[in-house]
Amino acid sequence: LHYHEWRYYVLDAPVIGDTEYDLLYKQLEALEAAHPELVRDDSPTTRVGSDLTDDLPAVPHRTPMLSLANTYNADDLRDFDTQVRKLTGREEGQPISYVVEPKYDGGTIALIYRDDRLVRGATRGNGKLGEEMTANARVIKSIPLRAAFEQLGVREVELRGEVLIRKDRFEAVNAQREEAGEVLFANPRNAATGGLRMKDPRRVAERSLEAFVYQVGFAVDAEGQDALHRFDTHGEWVDALGELGFMVPTDGRKVCKDIEEVAAFCTEWEERRDSYGYEIDGMVVKVNSLDLQDECGYTSHHPRWAVAYKFKAKQATTTLLDVEFNVGKVGSVTPVAKLEPVALAGVTISNVSLHNEEFIISKDIRIGDRVLVERAGDVIPYIVQSMPDLRDGSERVVEYPRQCPSCSTDLVKPEAEAVWRCVNTDCPAQFVRRLEHFVSKQGMDIDGFGEANVHKFYELGWLRTLADVFRLEYDAIADLEGMGTKSADKLRRAIDQAKRNPISRLLRSLSVHHLGPRASTLIAATIGHVLELRERTVEDLTAIKDIGPVVAQNVVAFFQNDHNVELLQEMESLGVNLTQTEADRPRAVVTEGAFVGKTVVFTGSLQEMTRSQAKKKAEAAGAKVVSAVSKKLDVLVAGEKAGSKLTKAEALGTVEILTEAEFLARVEG
Ligand code: IVH
Repeated sequence: LHYHEWRYYVLDAPVIGDTEYDLLYKQLEALEAAHPELVRDDSPTTRVGSDLTDDLPAVPHRTPMLSLANTYNADDLRDFDTQVRKLTGREEGQPISYVVEPKYDGGTIALIYRDDRLVRGATRGNGKLGEEMTANARVIKSIPLRAAFEQLGVREVELRGEVLIRKDRFEAVNAQREEAGEVLFANPRNAATGGLRMKDPRRVAERSLEAFVYQVGFAVDAEGQDALHRFDTHGEWVDALGELGFMVPTDGRKVCKDIEEVAAFCTEWEERRDSYGYEIDGMVVKVNSLDLQDECGYTSHHPRWAVAYKFKAKQATTTLLDVEFNVGKVGSVTPVAKLEPVALAGVTISNVSLHNEEFIISKDIRIGDRVLVERAGDVIPYIVQSMPDLRDGSERVVEYPRQCPSCSTDLVKPEAEAVWRCVNTDCPAQFVRRLEHFVSKQGMDIDGFGEANVHKFYELGWLRTLADVFRLEYDAIADLEGMGTKSADKLRRAIDQAKRNPISRLLRSLSVHHLGPRASTLIAATIGHVLELRERTVEDLTAIKDIGPVVAQNVVAFFQNDHNVELLQEMESLGVNLTQTEADRPRAVVTEGAFVGKTVVFTGSLQEMTRSQAKKKAEAAGAKVVSAVSKKLDVLVAGEKAGSKLTKAEALGTVEILTEAEFLARVEG
């Protein structure tokens, strides 16, 4: 624990995740509870972690800056409430009000104001001693240099808070560093804490740090008497500080009448954390009444009147066991890291993509390395960094194959691309990927086919070409283990239905490089029969609005290849539709309706209709339905349990927000 505290606080380079640290800490607490005679006076449980270095002068804190006890779920919060009731002698029926605030994930600071002027800024340090950083505090614009405490009858006051960098600023800072060839920050927290301790305040200023203030350490009047109890509650203090010009928690802050309201608010914010502008790793719950706080008191480690509600960790460390290479449906060979399974934000991660050779080299990722993995919101999990410090010499550099792992053909790397490619069109791995795509939802949409069946039928030798999908023998399928006549029948019906798909869908199922659903639709609208594409040139295709030269080139090449033409002819003889249908013809542009010219997003769960029905209704009324909330968005229809999209749309302030009922009233009225 000492080692990890040093890595975290001093070096800003932790080698384990917060959750793992918390687990170790809990283990030590349990051991100490069972063997009090073995508790050392330097035990991490008796003090807070230290960020002291020799760089900046050490200064004592008048009252210690403590840590917080952690909770992880509603039951833990209820236990906390029970504990508070015990300490204060409150019965179940008597209400206790709590204030909830975001738990900012930055660098903790203490600011002292005397006679309305900022006289000292310090980091938390080890809780007793901090590092003096007044000059740096003075360049942080959200920290007022003067504030009218006198009007509250306060002569000297210590405010505690957190220095942060906005997430979007963090991206910009890292982009600059990348250009300057400097080491990137792993997360916004490191960018902020690193900034706090820089030697040159001018460079601190460039980083555009901000500071939230959320706690009063002490407050005294002109006579040196305690002035903390000028207000009855913590909430009133925070409001007063806001009025004096400090940046105080507003979003994510709530006065709750009881612990159930606290729990609900905490879960709500766990879902919203990604759309909030600053990095937060939980919520802090504080007893609102200052008198009750006094009755609760402190341990040497934390106040008994407050707890942290920790969100599920977004980052964790694990070991990279191996790197495998997957061959995609058009031959791109991508490295995939096999990880020692690790729990992250509610799911277990054991595979992550390493994207391409450049990614592996730039992050110096080796087999056997400890790696930091992150999973934020909807983002696909990825490796943030490797930890070269922890190597013992047994790690191996990743050997990028020069031959296809499936068919051994020499790989090629086109000038403009980042990935190596297998160009053998008969490559077995590519073929299986193409089969998977062909039957999938994005392809021919054959319900119940699935990857497992693709692999099974392929292994049995039943699928040698895409056309074989329409030659399957359903009696043989029914005889397979775990299938039976019912499943085989179902599959037959799904395949028969797929035969009647519009040609736009057939086109996008063929794995022509870069030919997606939109381009397929545009091209399908210009032909009467799929095989007419044999006669089309690149010029013909690029003449279609929104078809670019790359797709055009790929489509032409595909239809110049006799194998492909034969494949389609075979499909046709097996009953697959190759002729343009109503569904392929361009839909007339809607010029009348409630949403003409408007972009619309649906979010949350709808009660009266499915998403695709909603989409159809909106389009019939002239709307363009998209999935992402952006500045260009006009209307957001929010169903039940709407989450981050709603928050984002509200924050933009320019998006019209409708309920499902309001939406229906509009399209139908
Ligand atoms: S109150 C006496 N409020 O979390 C306890 N702390 O793990 C005073 N933190 O070191 C802390 N946001 O730096 C409080 N709204 C908030 C906070 C907050 C972040 C940090 C604080 C502390 C750590 C505890």
